[in-house]
Amino acid sequence: MITDAHERWEHSPANQGVIGLQRAGLWDQVIEEIDGRRIRIGDRWLVDFASCNYLGFDLESEIAAAATEQISRWGTHPSWSRMLGSPRLYPAIEERLTGLLGAPAALVLPTISQIHLAAIPALAGDGLIFLDQRAHKTVYDGCVHARATGATVQRFRSNDFDHLAELLHEAPGQVTKLVCMDGVNSMTGNTPDLARFAALCRTHDASLYIDDAHGFGVLGEQPTASSPYGIRGNAVVRHHDVGYDNIVLVGGFSKAYSSMLAFIACSPGVKRKLKVTMPTYLYSGPVPVASLATVLAGFDVNDDRGDDIRADLHRKTARVLDHLRVLRAATPNHSGFPLIEVPVADPADLHEVGRRLLEQGVYTTLAPYPGVPRDQVGFRIQMTAANTDEQVDLLLDVLTRLNDDPPGEGPAFRRVSQPDTSNVQ
Ligand SMILES: Cc1ncc(COP(=O)(O)O)c(C=O)c1O
Repeated sequence: MITDAHERWEHSPANQGVIGLQRAGLWDQVIEEIDGRRIRIGDRWLVDFASCNYLGFDLESEIAAAATEQISRWGTHPSWSRMLGSPRLYPAIEERLTGLLGAPAALVLPTISQIHLAAIPALAGDGLIFLDQRAHKTVYDGCVHARATGATVQRFRSNDFDHLAELLHEAPGQVTKLVCMDGVNSMTGNTPDLARFAALCRTHDASLYIDDAHGFGVLGEQPTASSPYGIRGNAVVRHHDVGYDNIVLVGGFSKAYSSMLAFIACSPGVKRKLKVTMPTYLYSGPVPVASLATVLAGFDVNDDRGDDIRADLHRKTARVLDHLRVLRAATPNHSGFPLIEVPVADPADLHEVGRRLLEQGVYTTLAPYPGVPRDQVGFRIQMTAANTDEQVDLLLDVLTRLNDDPPGEGPAFRRVSQPDTSNVQ
């Protein structure tokens, strides 16, 4: 009954978490205006460390100008579903994307959530899905949908190669197998060892389905010690140099490229199949022209200046990670990518920590249980190239103050066991 369900929700950990976030002031806020990477909430200006606009394309005037130009040609919104017809901008994006990724083919749709909901059931059919326990909620939702249309879903411990190997080994040979994982994980900021996982999947004739929402635009091919993100921002498959055999890569433009659009990179055969089986391709509306235009302009800026922007993003992210090391604050991030979760020592202090961050001018994403495991309850800092060095100075200062004056009896942050001051600038 609705009342019973409502009563259970009221007392659920998820609802208690939301109430705490509201109390801390880091939930469902109305942003009145922005100024670069500063945001105004009510009368208060804060520095935004919760933005996913990693490359700062949301603030590039030449990208914004492209929207006006294309709207004058195409109007504001095409409105046909893609099944009926697509403005020339769509194939232009798919061609450039295929070239950038080095993938055999690509298909774009408005959002990653729409892709997961439709592509996972289409690819799994009545077969077996192996789902990483910490894959993004939207991947999970795609798997739930696939279960309703005949697939069986098994979960494996996050990033646990041996557990997945065991499950694949036990699976019957003649059945469709789909392994679903994140590329750059949205909370830890790390990628799986893709070369190992891809080889395992190939051995068992399984397809590997990867959500790289946070990786596309940030990491790319040929990572080196001096350029750990790699070049061109062409996502996790190129970063780990594993090729596209048996791999389906999903990514989006709504983070690094600051535009509403998402893609699925796959073989031409899979693309043909998806175009006639995915309800969200057949029946959902398209993205606005402004987004198609800003994606295309984003490709140009990425070609011209993307690697410099990524080097700057890496440098700013390293400043934060180095500072956490000096404070001996633990973070699951060992990749150097610009998502930095900072677990608090005592989960009961989370909302007070959030309140203090806000009070001292820093806006971050709080990460309560059950969104993250209990031992990782904390807050997530996201760095973008548009954050200034002065803003990073403020963040480091606020972290130091929290460390020196913790809200509870013990330390504010979970500690790393050993001090590590290597690479401190
Ligand atoms: C890892 C991951 N996948 C998918 C999504 C959803 O993307 P979209 O807004 O394109 O549906 C997000 C959004 O934050 C995400 O972090």
